[in-house]
Amino acid sequence: MCGIVGYTGAHEAAPVLVAGLRRLEYRGYDSAGLATLDRDRLTVRKRAGRVRALEELLESESAPGRCGISHTRWATHGPANDRNAHPHLGGRGGAIRVAVVHNGVIENHAALRRELESQGFEFHSQTDTEVIAHLIARELETTDDLFEAVQRAMPRLEGTYGLGVISPSRPGEVVGARFGSPLVVGLGEGEHLLASDPVAIAPHTAQVAFLQDGEVVRLTPHDFEMRHLEHGPITPRIDRLDWKPDAVELGGHAHYMIKEIREQPETIVNTCRGRLRRSEATAVFGGLNLSPRQLRRVRRVVFAACGTSWHAALVGEYLIERLADLPVEVEYASEFRYRNAPLDDRTLVFVLSQSGETADTLGALREAKRRGHPTLAIVNTVGSTIAREADGGIYLHAGPEVGVASTKAFSAQVAVLTLLALYLGRLRHLSFPDGLAVIDAIEQVPALLGEVLKTEPLIEEAAGRIASAHSALYLGRDLHYPVALEGALKLKEISYIHAEGYPTAEMKHGPIALVDRHTPCIFVVPRGSLHAKTLSNLEEVRARDGLVISVGTEDDQAVAGLSQVFLPIPEAPEVVQPLLAVVPLQLLAYHVARQRGCDIDKPRNLAKSVTVE
Ligand code: AGP
Repeated sequence: MCGIVGYTGAHEAAPVLVAGLRRLEYRGYDSAGLATLDRDRLTVRKRAGRVRALEELLESESAPGRCGISHTRWATHGPANDRNAHPHLGGRGGAIRVAVVHNGVIENHAALRRELESQGFEFHSQTDTEVIAHLIARELETTDDLFEAVQRAMPRLEGTYGLGVISPSRPGEVVGARFGSPLVVGLGEGEHLLASDPVAIAPHTAQVAFLQDGEVVRLTPHDFEMRHLEHGPITPRIDRLDWKPDAVELGGHAHYMIKEIREQPETIVNTCRGRLRRSEATAVFGGLNLSPRQLRRVRRVVFAACGTSWHAALVGEYLIERLADLPVEVEYASEFRYRNAPLDDRTLVFVLSQSGETADTLGALREAKRRGHPTLAIVNTVGSTIAREADGGIYLHAGPEVGVASTKAFSAQVAVLTLLALYLGRLRHLSFPDGLAVIDAIEQVPALLGEVLKTEPLIEEAAGRIASAHSALYLGRDLHYPVALEGALKLKEISYIHAEGYPTAEMKHGPIALVDRHTPCIFVVPRGSLHAKTLSNLEEVRARDGLVISVGTEDDQAVAGLSQVFLPIPEAPEVVQPLLAVVPLQLLAYHVARQRGCDIDKPRNLAKSVTVE
């Protein structure tokens, strides 16, 4: 999806803007551009294709100035070409008054275009964004205050937008505005930045202020000012990103995805830090904003999420039902928001989202709130829209996740849900010793994950056996069914091999028809309560000449003997097995995609954060 970076400060803007765009490349885009201001001289450079193409252009045609805006575009209105790339310029009669970058969609752009054309504004692109540039330019004919002009133009726009705006009449000033598309301000020393994602500006500053819908900001190198369109001046909340300075760098890894897979032992430590209380054999959360008494009244939990977060929620369902004996339903956020799902006043609604910006999940949260339910969020991105709009919640503390294929966020979500199941269980019938056993199990996980990661060479070799497959089945039971779903999603997302996840025993009700020697069947079958029942399913695949790859407990001769490829994980209590079993599947998907020559961090057609419905 589109990305925005803006800068004003003591340094040349173009290198800062391009470096910021590079950090947003993972989000997916098809063209890139920037505009800079050197006093009142405006320079625009843009190119279809990669940020590299823009950099090459800048090598021969520079863009001087210490103030500017930049953009990566993911085409919606008009094809990906130089002309439609952002920034777009506004003004009439040869006067260029403004340059604009925009994320989102302007729904009434056609009507606005007709109106502006009738007033002498000429259009040079097929984008909806150009109407924004001309609307602001029209206001700048009667005021020289860019901040004011943007605020006057905003009410005319229907749809969603995150905007970055500069004007030759206001050297050194960047104006940002938000309605529905994320925007964050970075507060540096003698410099201010604007971005659609804090990842873009993290190396410059950890101090950030997230804009909310209807808010507009004016940045100069030493000052910033924020207003709400209806409520007037506001004092923004300053958040601190608890990221290491190198958190968004590759640090010697070939891809963000593998970096983030390998970070998982540390992720679990960070996610669980300060949340385990041995003296009471339970977990503690700071931000739930619901008392134990209120939580004991809850009779049902609904999780709403998308994609990988939905899979994590399914693990949560199994864990909470097992440890807390509380009914749980897991909903696709996109369905929940429009479905007439019956919720009574003892239903607790949780949404899960790594980014905190997924439009469908945000829609589900708003729908639950509208119906008067307390809403809680399990989110990674501090200050994101979902984090702000929920009544309470739990942060993952997984650090920034850059890889489009979510890995460490899944593990952090599952870790949080394990703690949540423990907490809810201890509010009900879970005994002190059983609570302590869960804590013991969780505390072992980082070291055990280290062991799993050591098996990467074995997994890389196994990847060679499925790299040329057209289709794969992932099978798991109980807690491992969602792990199988997640393994299948990882494979299809980055290697483009069709893959389906099923509960293992469901295989015989249909999917078994697909089994032949070209269809790998990946079983997730660590030792546990349903282990013995799964062995016969492995036999069934063997009998049909299928390729059996299994993830199992390291000394499990029975599973190893039935598998052509056996991927071991260490012995561990069942409640934490999903955290271990998912890692070989993430590594398998990664190495298959690598062997197939796929663009792992920029998989086709995908975006990291899906901010449209
Ligand atoms: C995961 O690998 C996917 N890229 C995708 O399914 C993702 O999990 C989904 O879009 C939800 O994102 P969120 O967690 O940021 O809300």
